[in-house]
Amino acid sequence: MADATTTDAGADWAAWQESWDRQQEWYMPDREERFRIMLDMVEALVGTAPRVLDLACGTGSITARLLARFPDAVSTGVDLDPALLAIAEGTFAGDDRVSFVTADLKDPRWAAGLPYDSYDAVLTATALHWLHSEPLAVLYGQVAGLVRDGGVFMNADHMIDDSTPRINAAERALRHRHMDQAKAAGALDWAEWWQLAAQDPVLAGPTARRFEIYGEHSDGDMPSAAWHAHTLREKGFGEARAVWCSPSDTLLLALK
Ligand SMILES: C[S@@+](CC[C@H](N)C(=O)[O-])C[C@H]1O[C@@H](n2cnc3c(N)ncnc32)[C@H](O)[C@@H]1O
Repeated sequence: MADATTTDAGADWAAWQESWDRQQEWYMPDREERFRIMLDMVEALVGTAPRVLDLACGTGSITARLLARFPDAVSTGVDLDPALLAIAEGTFAGDDRVSFVTADLKDPRWAAGLPYDSYDAVLTATALHWLHSEPLAVLYGQVAGLVRDGGVFMNADHMIDDSTPRINAAERALRHRHMDQAKAAGALDWAEWWQLAAQDPVLAGPTARRFEIYGEHSDGDMPSAAWHAHTLREKGFGEARAVWCSPSDTLLLALK
């Protein structure tokens, strides 16, 4: 696999995107569905040529789907992971609709390096659960300042409703049974994917750096969708609610 994704000309970015998507889908088989609804809501609220901030962009998964559907969109990706950003930058090299910024979203000055002061849409997926609710609320205040009036913020992520522990436990048990079956059929998990990246001649250096930065990260407290909606309203959005959910995850939309 590591050989298959690196040629004499450099890394095969399309192959890395593909293997990233498969790895993420092992955790979220409905990942594409949430991206589709996210872009439906972009079109509904800010149109087909939006200026987008892809927050905690990773390999640029949202940006790729955005530009495939809306060729007149522009996107800024921001992330801290040098390996995922290397894949993102390799993928979009030469595309002047896209730029990337390296920043830690917990740094109060993270937005200082962005190329624009405001965005039609700030979009994020499977990332903000890395932050505890206190820094996440601070980040939401900063995001509210970046979204223009009439613009949107959307977050697709794992959000836990503590008031339904038996439902949560049953859902989790079934989800993990399905994951175990997919694993037995050859699916790669997070740790195995990173082992491959570490063996790749191009990604080995940035992968070593990302483990120095993050270590083995631990997740935040993953508050409920109601908490996200309430906090986003408190921080300056006019409306906020779920526009899609699965038994474990929610796509939360906030309108400025
Ligand atoms: C599971 S990946 C998801 C990436 C992408 N949104 C996707 O759906 O494929 C989580 C991303 O959040 C980023 N991230 C987590 N905490 C961050 C922070 N404090 N600052 C910047 N990026 C962060 C990680 O580097 C990683 O790229």
